[in-house]
Amino acid sequence: MSTFGRILHYCKPYWGRIVISTIASITVGSMDGAFAYLVEPLLKKTFATNDKTIFTLLPIGVLILFAVRAACRFLNDYFIRTAGELAIQDIRNDLYRSCMTLGLRFFQKNSTGALMSRVMSDVAVMQNGIANVVTSICRDGFSAISLLIVIFYRSWQLALITFIVIPLTVFSAQKIGKRIKSLSGKSQEMIGDVGSILQETFSGIKVVKAFGLGERMTGRFHAATTHYYTFIRKAIKYNSLSAPVIEMITSLGIAGVIWVGGSMVMSGQLTSAEFFSFLTAMVLVYKPIKSLNNSYNIIQASIGAAVRVFEVIDEKPEICDAEKAVSIDRVAGNVEFRDVSFAYEGEMVINHVNLSARHGEIIALVGPSGGGKSTLVSLIPRFYDVTDGAILFDGVDIRTIGMKDLIRQVALVDQETMLFNDTIANNIRYGNFTATDAEVESAAQAAFAHDFILEMPDGYATIIGDRGTRLSGGQRQRLCIARALIKNAPILILDEATSALDTESEQMVQQALNNLMTNRTTFVIAHRLSTILHADKILVLENGRIVESGSHKELLENSGLYSRLCSLQFGDSDSPNSDSNASIN
Ligand SMILES: Nc1ncnc2c1ncn2[C@@H]1O[C@H](COP(=O)(O)OP(=O)(O)OP(=O)(O)O)[C@@H](O)[C@H]1O
Ligand SMILES: [Mg+2]
Repeated sequence: MSTFGRILHYCKPYWGRIVISTIASITVGSMDGAFAYLVEPLLKKTFATNDKTIFTLLPIGVLILFAVRAACRFLNDYFIRTAGELAIQDIRNDLYRSCMTLGLRFFQKNSTGALMSRVMSDVAVMQNGIANVVTSICRDGFSAISLLIVIFYRSWQLALITFIVIPLTVFSAQKIGKRIKSLSGKSQEMIGDVGSILQETFSGIKVVKAFGLGERMTGRFHAATTHYYTFIRKAIKYNSLSAPVIEMITSLGIAGVIWVGGSMVMSGQLTSAEFFSFLTAMVLVYKPIKSLNNSYNIIQASIGAAVRVFEVIDEKPEICDAEKAVSIDRVAGNVEFRDVSFAYEGEMVINHVNLSARHGEIIALVGPSGGGKSTLVSLIPRFYDVTDGAILFDGVDIRTIGMKDLIRQVALVDQETMLFNDTIANNIRYGNFTATDAEVESAAQAAFAHDFILEMPDGYATIIGDRGTRLSGGQRQRLCIARALIKNAPILILDEATSALDTESEQMVQQALNNLMTNRTTFVIAHRLSTILHADKILVLENGRIVESGSHKELLENSGLYSRLCSLQFGDSDSPNSDSNASIN
């Protein structure tokens, strides 16, 4: 379907409003022609027959005419704008829904600012276009047509002069419109860059302050706004140019008409009343043609924006349900990696990993930073699909399980704590929307968050600010743990889940986690080795390969990488000192 056709498709549900608006706009448009036509009998009656009644009827007629016109204009504007907004609301919602289905790769490729610009400003440009299609094509179009009929009816010879001019105006309008379309697309991209910087600055304001980046960021912002200006300036230039160009061309027509028409009146070919009616129509026709031209530019820009919006709506989700997706209720939690390899782009980050975790086991992943631990666990909830090999839950390839069912099996506490600008209770509930208040509280208790929550001004109802900025790092982590716990999934992934806690609260949270881990399969990533001593299996990951695996004791006896890491953290003694806070980072 063409872009234009797709926009129309979105307008379809609101056809009632569009029809009312169209009828109203046709009425307004046709009235212009009627008005120009009436000039002739009016002048003839008034001046030729000296009929007095016309002076009492005329003001009343004018009032009625304009009252009807005003009412129609209102209906026209109101209904088309609301229809446009409603259609745009649907487009915006579809755009957002489509973004929700897209994989992590898509968001890594497109900056937040660029995506925000599509959802907000591109869509707004489209709205402008939709409102203009009906208002302009119907109101101005009919106004122009009705006036042209009068023009022809009054004198075809004079009309021909007008007709030499109109194609010229249409041609130049089209040329300018094309330029505007491409420039508007580019300027929308630039405004996306501006948005990106804004987003980065506001969410990373602490780093900006700490490193004194104020001036540098201001410079970057300045460069982006300047860049935007260079494009928008050109668009403005073409926009501003289009009206004067049309006016100049039309003035040629008007001059020609006055010259030829004047001599026709003198030679008696045309009455002066007819000539005035013609001139009225000619002067009036100029405005709708100018505004048709203007609307043409707006529509061009809005099609440019629509192309960019539909691009995202059409983006195929990289990860989606298989054709015959298996539906599962709750897996026992046996997880198997069968010769799994994975590359983000080109280079392998995970190399031929084989591992199996049985229901209830705790699997710890350790190893140097950048070794691939987070990447490995991100394959479990299918944030990315394996490049090679397969991951199985209870013997079923996860690619064959429906996404909704799959996601229910896995709870994650990520290395980066992410909370929403909502109440504490709701943030925990993001793990399970059906949870009762009591369940929220017991999850918070298990995550050792209950006490600090009660100390907050509104307790569980406290709003925690953008991404939880009003909380300490450890408090944020405990909320994330509570959120994962309340999900009560058979597979739990803890990626540095307790790294921001002090040793004492970490031990307490660890105890709580230990209790909870009993019934689920848990993957724990930790740099602080004291947290993983009791794991059933410890896997040492280096450069995407499992270089060692076994229990703490077995690995120490191996005297490989793990025992080296241990002696770095715990000193030379084999018995770890739980107070040690050293990290292998
Ligand atoms: N989105 C991404 N796109 C491309 N490469 C990535 C991406 N995320 C991570 N990598 C690369 O993959 C490798 C493994 O990263 P990963 O985050 O899995 O390491 P990690 O073991 O969790 O490290 P850490 O202990 O520091 O958290 C790194 O070399 C990293 O540069
Ligand atoms: Mg990591």
